[in-house]
Amino acid sequence: MIAIRKSLDADFDAMLAIINDAAGAYRGVIPADQWHEPYMPAEQLAKEIAAGVAFWVAEQDGRLAGVMGVQDKGDVALVRHAYVASGTQRSGIGTRLLRHIEALTSKPVLIGTWAAASWAIDFYQRNGFRLIEGDEKDRLLQTYWSISPRQVETSVVLADSRWIQT
Ligand SMILES: CC(C)(COP(=O)(O)OP(=O)(O)OC[C@H]1O[C@@H](n2cnc3c(N)ncnc32)[C@H](O)[C@@H]1OP(=O)(O)O)[C@@H](O)C(=O)NCCC(=O)NCCS
Repeated sequence: MIAIRKSLDADFDAMLAIINDAAGAYRGVIPADQWHEPYMPAEQLAKEIAAGVAFWVAEQDGRLAGVMGVQDKGDVALVRHAYVASGTQRSGIGTRLLRHIEALTSKPVLIGTWAAASWAIDFYQRNGFRLIEGDEKDRLLQTYWSISPRQVETSVVLADSRWIQT
């Protein structure tokens, strides 16, 4: 039984553990200069929450199994930090979280992920997102995210059907 709910302060440690467990998928896949350990230090997660990323969690049989954040950016909403515990991936939890977040907003939803994370790109495409490439994706990353030029270069953007390319 999977339940989706807003995260509580008390979830912080369990959320951090899920993020760093699931982010292990990036090890040896994303450019080596972008990998660090832990992938998400506690201070960074706290900073993201303070910056307005609202996290939703999936609970399976009373235990946290996945996290997904949403950040309002005015004319769009960004999905930020989507992670499902490695032992429970590919059982529909990510899809449940994504549908929940999409239903919360009427704005176009954009997602940025590593270009090398082919499984994540596949996951979003299966859920109706379209890959944005080239100059348009650079422009989106520079407009809505606060990431380094190197991360822009090595990332892609996916957009849901509400996004009309300008
Ligand atoms: C991407 C992620 C959030 C998806 O959540 P999930 O609960 O595993 O996804 P679902 O079960 O709803 O959907 C499964 C689909 O996603 C894709 N997928 C997810 N994990 C995959 C993997 N390890 N290998 C290949 N495809 C994968 C496939 O299309 C899969 O469908 P299939 O099992 O029929 O092949 C989760 O796998 C994860 O945390 N991965 C590691 C971290 C990551 O990449 N996060 C994304 C950051 S933007």
